[in-house]
Parts: sequence; structure tokens; C-alpha cells
Amino acid sequence: MKVLDGKVAVVTGGARGIGRAICHAMAEAGAQVVVADLNLHEASETARDFDGLAVEMDVTQFGRLADQMQNVADQRGGIDILVNNAGIFNMASIDRITAEDYRRQYDVNVGGTLFACQAAVPFIKKRGGGAIINFSSQAGRRGEPNITLYCATKAAVISMTQSLALELAGDNIRVNAIAPGVVDTPMWDVVDAQFATYENKALGQKKREVGEAVPLGRMGDPRDIADPCVFLASDAARYITAQTLNVDGGNWMS
Ligand code: NAI
Repeated sequence: MKVLDGKVAVVTGGARGIGRAICHAMAEAGAQVVVADLNLHEASETARDFDGLAVEMDVTQFGRLADQMQNVADQRGGIDILVNNAGIFNMASIDRITAEDYRRQYDVNVGGTLFACQAAVPFIKKRGGGAIINFSSQAGRRGEPNITLYCATKAAVISMTQSLALELAGDNIRVNAIAPGVVDTPMWDVVDAQFATYENKALGQKKREVGEAVPLGRMGDPRDIADPCVFLASDAARYITAQTLNVDGGNWMS
């Protein structure tokens, strides 16, 4: 018996990076996994690894999410687990932040998380309960220069996680978040390039520096985040809700 046997898990942003590792880990743990991503081509490639379902989903299309969750539930028999992993990074100093940056960061990181929960919760309730795992960041624990918008959205995810956990506890739906440190994914290539501009560093330099600063001595691998995500989704975490779990190799920023 595997820990997620019989469960249906929807992973937003599941096509690559941390999301992809979560899809693999949940499939290995016995779940039927739905890879939901902007990029259907990459999502299909990921889903092919474990015979999962790939769905084109833009979490900022709030009005479409309920129908999309309905389709998933129709095809897979229900929804038990939602992983709100889709997220985008933005680096901009206060004089450079645009209204478009603001809207995009909040739409994906905050609105995408909130409205995906709203769309999935009725289906999770029908199964008698389940688990939601949201994605915050160490950047949601404290602010950082030139990363104001990203930090603010990731702090909002911690707050939403607490509120929704309390609201949904009576429905036996646990809501937790993960706050990764620095994880080697395609997103970090974007982050590294932006640090190169803002801190006048060579490409790859910031990535090396942050890896060395982590107490455990390296950047995270996506699987380092995926395994705790499986734990939070599983019955082993049955008495854990409203928490944000640091998965950061030892709080590299302190
Ligand atoms: P990534 O950029 O490598 O992958 C993100 C995935 O989300 C991509 O497949 C992309 O197509 C998808 N996506 C983006 N916008 C979307 C939308 N509107 N609708 C549906 N899918 C969308 O990112 P990575 O590094 O794997 O990050 C995953 C999560 O972990 C994000 O929420 C990120 O903020 C968070 N995180 C990442 C850290 C890192 O160091 N990589 C550190 C802390 C948090």
C-alpha cells in the first residue's frame, strides 16, 4: 500500500521544475496525477512519464478554473489533493516596478492560488476531505531588496493558507504551504540573470553564492521539495494544517 493510493492530485505549474518533481513523487506514491500548466506540450511530456493526465491551465483565468476542475474530476473520478505550485518571479527596484508587473505577480501567485482553491474545494469536499498545499517561499518570510512584489505575494500565500485552513478544517480539508529556499529549476536561471543585472554579477555567480550560503551546502533539488509535499498530502500529516513548512537546507538567509 502506497501513501497516496487511490488519490487524485492536481498539480498546477506541474510541467517543469519543482512542479514536475512533485508530479513524479506523487505518482510514485500511488496518486493519479493531473499535470496542469500553461504549457500543454511540456505538461504532456511530464505526464507521459507516469501515464498521468495533462491539462492546459492558466491559473490567472479565474473564471475558467471551476469548469477545468470539473473536467478533471469527470475524467479521474474526483479530486483529493491540490498543489498550488504555479508561480512566477519578478525582480524590480521601486523605481522600475510597473502596474503590469504588479498585476501579473498578484494574478499568478495570489489569485491563481486563491481561485484554484475555490474551484477545487467543492470536489475535495465531495470526497469527504483532502489536502491543499500552497507554494510560498523564504521570500515570503522576509523582504528582500528589489524583490518587493514577489516577497509580498509569497507572504500573502502564508496568510491565505492560515485563513483557508481554519475555514476548511470542518470539512476535513487540510491546507498547508511549503516555503522553499533556493531550488535549482528553470526559474532560478531567470533569477540568476536578474541578480546579474541588479548586483552587477557574472551569470551563474549568484547561483553559486546562494548554494554555498545554504547551511546544508547546496541549492535544493526539486525532489527535496517534492518529498515533503507528498508527506503533507498524505495521511501521515493528518494532524497538520495551517502550517508553512520551511524546506530550505537550514534558513540560508539568516
Ligand atoms: P519554474 O518557473 O521552473 O516552473 C513554474 C511552472 O509554472 C512552469 O511549468 C510554468 O509554465 C508554470 N506556470 C507559470 N505561470 C502559470 C500560470 N499562470 N498557470 C499555470 N501554470 C503556470 O518554477 P519553480 O522554480 O519550479 O517554482 C515552483 C514554485 O516554487 C513557484 O511558486 C515558486 O515561486 C516557488 N519557489 C521556487 C523557488 C526556487 O528557488 N526555484 C524558491 C521558493 C519558492
